[in-house]
Amino acid sequence: MAKPNLSPKIHLNKDNFESLLQERVNNEISKYIINTNEIDESMRYALTNPGKRVRPLLAYLIGDVLNLNLNMLDGTASAIEIIHTYSLVHDDLPCMDDDDLRRGQPTLHVKYSESTAVLAGDAMASLAIDIILQDSCLSSDLKVELLQFLMKTIGPEGMILGQIQDISFETTDVSEEQIIKMNELKTGALVEFSMLAPVIIAGEDTKQWGKIAKRVGITFQLIDDLLDIQETEEKLGKAAKKDKKKNKKNYPICFGVDKTRDKIKEYQNEVEVLISEMNLSEHPISIYINKLFARQK
Ligand code: IPE
Ligand code: IPE
Ligand code: MG
Ligand code: MG
Ligand code: MG
Repeated sequence: MAKPNLSPKIHLNKDNFESLLQERVNNEISKYIINTNEIDESMRYALTNPGKRVRPLLAYLIGDVLNLNLNMLDGTASAIEIIHTYSLVHDDLPCMDDDDLRRGQPTLHVKYSESTAVLAGDAMASLAIDIILQDSCLSSDLKVELLQFLMKTIGPEGMILGQIQDISFETTDVSEEQIIKMNELKTGALVEFSMLAPVIIAGEDTKQWGKIAKRVGITFQLIDDLLDIQETEEKLGKAAKKDKKKNKKNYPICFGVDKTRDKIKEYQNEVEVLISEMNLSEHPISIYINKLFARQK
């Protein structure tokens, strides 16, 4: 049985939601890294670096739409951000994208060591699963459902498959369809999980949110790929103009910036229609998704 929730309802509005929710994510995550041993120190370094917290914010905002008490999402939202951070730590390794800067600070393997970065990533993945397992707000059935979905999302049929495709495409020719699929797997899947977990927890139908989440997920990576071309390292807090040097086969590199912008616009229009069908155009979720579509970093 879910634990009764006694904390007061937070009122999110268009002016406060981002800072309130970012603070909530940061507070929640800090509860899970309490030791001062070597692995906690490196995890804390990665997790307290200032990320945008996009995925947990999407989860909380959809929870708000569904009138969920946000406590029901704290564990899952933390787990999502911790998994995302682990994926970045591994993504930056010399054997992967080989990057030195992340969230404006030296990458974990630069700050500590490569072995520490591999192990901190592994530890974060396990920690995230454990957080959902231990979540006293969720029933056992819900935990099983969420974890099954999460394992499909991040495992060898999901994020990891996308990541290995991203690397292997560096040395092959690929089709548009393959690039879109790779983006859906490496980035879209976890964004989709973030947006659908609250729907599952609320016991609602995932069909309409699923369509929105798919578009938001893929577009997030298309914009990341555009920003790599168009922005500076200072602004992004991570390497810029790097994908081409690494021979990445992403959408703007293979099909051009204009076609990528058109694709983003097409997906944004689709999402706007889907959101307005639910009468949510004025809700912070709509404001936040629009902000993500327009982001410059
Ligand atoms: C970067 O993700 C990697 C991608 C999947 C595109 P974010 O842009 O969400 O990175 P942080 O968490 O804000 O650092
Ligand atoms: C990262 O994609 C995807 C995952 C970490 C799963 P990118 O390699 O494009 O992300 P950045 O540009 O390094 O943040
Ligand atoms: Mg990568
Ligand atoms: Mg990378
Ligand atoms: Mg990138």
